[in-house]
Amino acid sequence: MVYGSLMDLFRTKSIEQSLSDTEEPEFKLKRTLTALDLTVFGVGVIIGAGIFTLTGAVAQANAGPGVVFSFVLAAVCCGLAALCYAEFASTVPVSGSAYTFSYATLGELIAWIIGWDLLLEMMLGASVVAQGWASYFETFLDQIGITWPSGIGYGDTFNLPAFLLVVILTALVAYGIKESLRVNLVLVGLKVFIVLFVIIAGIQFIDTDNYKPFVPPAESVEGGGETLHTPLLQLITGSPQAYGVMGIIFAASLVFFAYIGFDVVATTAEEAANPQKDLPRGIIGSLVICTILYVAVALVITGMVKYSEIDPAAALANAFVAQGRDGYATLISAGAVAGLTTVVMTLIIGAIRVTFAMCRDNLLPRSFAHVTPSTGTPLRITIAIGVLVALVASLTPIGKLEEMVNIGTLTAFALVSLAVPILRKRRPDLKRSFQVPFSPVLPWLSAAICVFLMLNLTVETWLRFLVWMALGFAIYFFYGYKNSRVGRGVAEAGQRV
Ligand code: ALA
Repeated sequence: MVYGSLMDLFRTKSIEQSLSDTEEPEFKLKRTLTALDLTVFGVGVIIGAGIFTLTGAVAQANAGPGVVFSFVLAAVCCGLAALCYAEFASTVPVSGSAYTFSYATLGELIAWIIGWDLLLEMMLGASVVAQGWASYFETFLDQIGITWPSGIGYGDTFNLPAFLLVVILTALVAYGIKESLRVNLVLVGLKVFIVLFVIIAGIQFIDTDNYKPFVPPAESVEGGGETLHTPLLQLITGSPQAYGVMGIIFAASLVFFAYIGFDVVATTAEEAANPQKDLPRGIIGSLVICTILYVAVALVITGMVKYSEIDPAAALANAFVAQGRDGYATLISAGAVAGLTTVVMTLIIGAIRVTFAMCRDNLLPRSFAHVTPSTGTPLRITIAIGVLVALVASLTPIGKLEEMVNIGTLTAFALVSLAVPILRKRRPDLKRSFQVPFSPVLPWLSAAICVFLMLNLTVETWLRFLVWMALGFAIYFFYGYKNSRVGRGVAEAGQRV
């Protein structure tokens, strides 16, 4: 392959160009969202399968009541990354989130990598949560006395409920984002109510003996001999990962999944009425609300049931069954079904927005990005993403791909954090309505914590991630590199670093 110089990989798209692209009528999105819409959008995507399923599973297998510290550690990681996202979103309020920020700072190749990671996060995240939704849906039907007929696609071969969910949500999103957010508002309200219900109804059943020991002593992981399922850090250091301090850290890299989503708020930048002010509010606000709720839920659940006896499949509901409160469990399952719906929908919206930005720059085919005038949404991309998510959700085994979502997201967070001080140095003139305090120390710390959590993911996840990245590089070098608008000089303001 004979391509231009190596430096082309680092060509950047100027902030001004990114902003002016959003004004092209063919590619223009409607600006209607307020700070409250954005916060609701954030909470809608953050609270999901993570709190409803992971909390119990991780407390039982990895951290005991110390899972509370895992949630705090993951929140610190996300909080620092959220500050970096907020600064960028207030400076470059353009659809595409971290992808767009990095195109302006770190150059095209890194932007492509981040965009590719965000697609992994959002498309795979939507698929995984759709599978979680299908499991809760089945549990809920069971609890109200309806059995899902075996043989019409549940579980093993073709997950029909997950498939139908994604198809219906994609149709809703294609119809128009403001309309979708109205549905979101109702479902998010219900979800927050259920989480508060777990906390308030659960407090009376806390037995403080269950907190002893709060951090169970470290143990070797069962089956730790299998290299593929060993966290990379354990393979390097040989330290035990279950319980103890290392267990808490390992658990943090898993419960990180529960926080994913605040960054998706930044993908709606072009639909926000007042993005400079409202994006930081939406990003940080939704993260703070969720952190408080998560820590409280973790405390209540590990206080209600001894960690070793927690049911990893449906911890929240079954903690109440153990207290003889079956009705509460049904309510919680119903809330989970509603709650997970909004997560899937919001992740689909995020994936569409990132793809939209990448197509507009012609790193993926530009014709995909046309906005359909009647709906104000990019219909072709919407359908393509919907089909992919529906296929992965219905055809892949349940419980295998969550860690992949985490590694993709952590990579994007680390790169965005590193980009903040770089953009400050290169473009001190830009107006920043929000600034990360103590830069560059906090952004660097943010990147370091992200990498540390990545190292705690399993070898298998790392291998799958490498395959995903290889696929991304192949697409970039065969398509994006040659066709990029910046590379072809269409985006005149594009510069070389
Ligand atoms: N944070 C989202 C969830 O927990 C992805 O489902």
